[in-house]
Amino acid sequence: MKQTPVNRFKAEFPAKSINEGYARMVAAAFVSQLDPTVADLADIKTAVSEAVTNCIVHAYRDKEGYCPIYISGAYYADGRVVISVRDKGCGISDIKQAVTPLFTTDPAGERSGMGFTIMESFCDKMSVSSRVGKGTTVRLVKKIVRP
Ligand SMILES: Nc1ncnc2c1ncn2[C@@H]1O[C@H](COP(=O)(O)OP(=O)(O)OP(=O)(O)O)[C@@H](O)[C@H]1O
Ligand SMILES: [Mg+2]
Repeated sequence: MKQTPVNRFKAEFPAKSINEGYARMVAAAFVSQLDPTVADLADIKTAVSEAVTNCIVHAYRDKEGYCPIYISGAYYADGRVVISVRDKGCGISDIKQAVTPLFTTDPAGERSGMGFTIMESFCDKMSVSSRVGKGTTVRLVKKIVRP
């Protein structure tokens, strides 16, 4: 049975690097309602940063005009937080390869190919769904439990 969230949010913003901080803060402000530990909050901010940076750097690399990023979040009575970061960019043809540590399509060699690995290790669960030419959604799940 599908659980009903205790609370949820949605935000949309253009894929500009200046908005990476906004995305981190909006996610952190939302999760703060659960009174998380500093460490849990930092993990969520880092994972959201990686997901949003990927939309900015990869998803819209050949696109002009308005390039939206959608972030949404929900938390449940058991303390589970689910945050989704979605773009309408180029999509990923081989997700298995994309999530492999050190895999990057960055031609300039500035990226380390560790974004998805970081998201995976900083969250309890990370999943990617994508359609080439349509866009990508990254779903981050983390359980917030107070000691
Ligand atoms: N939203 C996205 N849209 C299209 N392609 C993506 C998206 N996110 C990731 N990718 C693809 O998956 C690859 C791996 O992403 P990952 O975040 O792990 O590494 P990176 O972004 O290349 O490097 P780093 O995150 O370490 O700076 C990227 O190089 C890119 O090809
Ligand atoms: Mg990345």
